[in-house]
Amino acid sequence: MINQLPQDETISRTSHQRRAYLQRMQAKYQYTYAYAETIAIARHLPWREFPGLRYWFLAALNLARLIPSLPALLLAFSRYLLGRPLLTYRDYVFFPRSPQPNPQLIETFQQDSEFGLQRVIGVNPVALRAATLRQPMPQSLATQSIERIFAEQVHEIDYASAIAGKRVYVLDYAALAILQDNPGFIDGGQKQHVTTPIVVLFQQGDGTLRPIAIQLDQAKGGNGRIYTASDGDLWRVAKALAQIADGNHHILYTHAVRIHYVMEAVIMASRRQLHRSHPLYALLDPHLQFTLNVNHQHTFLKNRKGQPGRFGEIFAGDYDATMQCMADAMTSFNFAGSAFPRDIAAREVDNPDLFYPYRDDGMLLWDAIQEFAARYIDTCYRSDNDVALDHEINAWAYDIGAQDRGRIRGFPNQFLTRTALAETIGHIIFLCTAHHSCIHFNQYSYPGFVPNMPYASYVAPPSGHETSFDAGTAQKMLPAFRAAYTQTWTYYLTNFRVNRIGEYPLQRFDPEARAVIGRFGDRLRAIEGLIERRNRERVVRYERMLPSSIPNSVSV
Ligand SMILES: [Fe+2]
Repeated sequence: MINQLPQDETISRTSHQRRAYLQRMQAKYQYTYAYAETIAIARHLPWREFPGLRYWFLAALNLARLIPSLPALLLAFSRYLLGRPLLTYRDYVFFPRSPQPNPQLIETFQQDSEFGLQRVIGVNPVALRAATLRQPMPQSLATQSIERIFAEQVHEIDYASAIAGKRVYVLDYAALAILQDNPGFIDGGQKQHVTTPIVVLFQQGDGTLRPIAIQLDQAKGGNGRIYTASDGDLWRVAKALAQIADGNHHILYTHAVRIHYVMEAVIMASRRQLHRSHPLYALLDPHLQFTLNVNHQHTFLKNRKGQPGRFGEIFAGDYDATMQCMADAMTSFNFAGSAFPRDIAAREVDNPDLFYPYRDDGMLLWDAIQEFAARYIDTCYRSDNDVALDHEINAWAYDIGAQDRGRIRGFPNQFLTRTALAETIGHIIFLCTAHHSCIHFNQYSYPGFVPNMPYASYVAPPSGHETSFDAGTAQKMLPAFRAAYTQTWTYYLTNFRVNRIGEYPLQRFDPEARAVIGRFGDRLRAIEGLIERRNRERVVRYERMLPSSIPNSVSV
């Protein structure tokens, strides 16, 4: 098939066929907002979106690796049914003879250093921001108290200098108030709890982060209790509640909505508005594979009887609150603002001394993908005017952003220059490859070991008046055998890959475009070597941005 821009179709018959094809696709791919009002999804899943046999074969092969552990799982389940609770953290390893979530985490997950590391290499490395003069601490945190705690906890630098030097960081989970106010109930009426913590961290001399203060709620008037390492058991509980908040934020904000459902809108528009011979369709198609199927199998959705999906149940809020939280995540999302360098700048996490592999490796991938998109677009459009004349790509842009279509805020509503188009195409490719790799493929490693990052607490959080929190109650914060369900799902979701960044069916491209793809492959190989060299120097390896481990689409 020869790739052709719509305005270059010189034969009226082919031009007519092209329009007729797109009309058929628009009839097949229709929007609905039945799920959450700000999230557009496909009304029905067309057959072409179902994965083929190879996909299911690899998925089955992946699950087969759990088989050696099934006797141990059944034994643990039988004991649980007979009334023996999960007593130790090691009991939360349900597949002892299969690949482990993160073996050393059993020993380290309650340490401050591990908590700090997970902010920069964990599942949600985009929640962190610097506290600066431009973006000070949240108002519900009393600044005077933080200054006092900082002076007690940090001796190498004073608070004002640390703020000026971008060495103070904050996590703020205010957006989870809707889950806190509308708790879920599962397993025979057991109440699920989440809080809305604010966490303050200090960047140490070696670049790693250390948590120094946690307030569990968005206290009015800045008078909430702030926990520190000197609170002993209560400090561990505060960190656990911060992990719970981060787990909910990771799935509901960063992952499901701001990757999976943003890509759903992009895929819908691509199928509806770009003819399969459009050169940008040829480029994007490998990045659009499997995602609609994943999103529609997703167990957030209600089943045919109107009951919540099982995965949705394990989050802390009730079903409606969980949906509303996801709707809020989309409302507060801005596509243009989420471009990697803009996101880094907006969160002010640009202090080069901060150990932040997501940022440092991500910039390599962002630059490489941007360059690739720009060179590819140069092969399709000889001038900016060519872009402005391309009515298919402009209809595509409209579909993604419009209120009666994809509802993605901040998406350009038209393209007039090659530069603007290339940045957006590169942004989409980065989102569904490198960024999704970071947000998705650490799930077994971190929330997969449930004591490290449960999605809800099953006892009430401290009220602020306690002087201690006994170990037995802390243990009851964890879900019981339901944790096996989380571990199984995260195992399945993160241990198989069906494609790899940089793979394109070369027969669909002309020689000039093939040369561009070839140079992109060379650059990815160079990045692989560079990240490997960086990893040898790092306190901890970071593998999520290694091109060899990055899938080509949101494939699972
Ligand atoms: Fe994912």
